[in-house]
Amino acid sequence: MYEAVHDVRDALGITELVLYDIDGARLPRVLQVLEGIDRERGSRVPVRATADLDDALEGADVVYSAIRVGGIASRIVDETVPLGHGVLGQETTGPGGIAFALRTIPVMRDIAERAALRAPNAWFMNFTNPAGMITEAIAEVLGDRAFGICDTPRGMFRRIAALLGRPQERLWFDYAGLNHLGFLQAVRDGTEDLLPGLLEDDALLDGLEEASIFDHAFLRSLGMIPNEYLAYYYGTAEVVRRQLDAGRTRGQEIAETQRGYFAAEPGSPEEALAAWRAATQARSSTYMAEAGAVREDGSRAGHDPDDLEGYAGVALRAALALRSGRPTVMVLNARNRTALPFLDPQAIVETVCVVTGAGVRTIATAPLPLHARGLIEQMKEVERTTIAAALQGSAPLAARALALHPLVPSTAVADRILEGYRAQEPHLAALLS
Ligand code: G6P
Ligand code: MN
Repeated sequence: MYEAVHDVRDALGITELVLYDIDGARLPRVLQVLEGIDRERGSRVPVRATADLDDALEGADVVYSAIRVGGIASRIVDETVPLGHGVLGQETTGPGGIAFALRTIPVMRDIAERAALRAPNAWFMNFTNPAGMITEAIAEVLGDRAFGICDTPRGMFRRIAALLGRPQERLWFDYAGLNHLGFLQAVRDGTEDLLPGLLEDDALLDGLEEASIFDHAFLRSLGMIPNEYLAYYYGTAEVVRRQLDAGRTRGQEIAETQRGYFAAEPGSPEEALAAWRAATQARSSTYMAEAGAVREDGSRAGHDPDDLEGYAGVALRAALALRSGRPTVMVLNARNRTALPFLDPQAIVETVCVVTGAGVRTIATAPLPLHARGLIEQMKEVERTTIAAALQGSAPLAARALALHPLVPSTAVADRILEGYRAQEPHLAALLS
């Protein structure tokens, strides 16, 4: 993000960047990494750190939020508890996403309320996962000023454009759904749809990360490319098997790489930056390995470890469009209005949007097939039940959200998973009664 901020500093008219964290040890460490970037680039962006949220928010034009309530330790509980019952252990999909949302929603509501007071005109860009549920919960406070960001749709578009050898900005990607639950139905250049040709071509498909995750014949029969997170639905049994065989969850793996980073002696800004890059690279090279994204030789299709596009690209493109008013088409998590006609207008959906100086508006895409629609409707109900459970501190509603999740095999298993969460995760123990 900070590297991208450097690039768009003048275009965005950035006067000050304020960092806020409740973890006093992380702030100086991150400031050092930023200092490393400044030195590398030979220029600096005015940055200040604070441990006071109101101070950070006061008068801001744009607020970026990415928090992890309970830290990586809670992520590990989110993942290991369901896995102990043979159910998917993943941070945003399955029971893990529900637990993550339950403890995060009250904190994010508080942040949103304070943002509404201190920075009433700010655009609030939410990165905090599970991004769809969190954005829906804060949009009740911030309205259309809040929207959510995920890098996976744009990552998919970038890979497809590169495979097709056409500039990404020239293509139209018909993508719709919820966060980590979306579907690409067409890739248009002019009036021509390039997706059917891509799906037919095994050689081309081999270069696409999504095609190492999903069965080619299945992709062809769908006639669409699902978001990579759909691997957890269409490949549940194999993913759970890989997770059990690995002997550690993704959270446990990341805890180790991050521990190395934060434990190392700070040293110089250059060293801090190099350590940061190494930790980030280690994380990205193993991303979604459990879903089959990494080949046997350790390589992955269409993956660019130096890709700075990701989150930074989406977040800063949105800020530029809001600032300049120049209409920009991008996939964001925003209020549905009538884009997905089978959901109500207030629902937060992840779909094609146009961003102008007036904010973010969804655009209708091709109608989704019944199976996709069914999954989206079911998960929207799970999301809303989770939000209600978090806001009311209700264990029965949390149990219901778990039981309604398509990846939880029975109400009894849902109850046992909830029991495990309440016993092992302090925020959930305190929240639910
Ligand atoms: C992608 C997803 C994010 C997720 C990130 C890291 O960027 O869109 O929602 O937080 O991957 O995943 P990891 O498993 O490495 O923490
Ligand atoms: Mn995401």
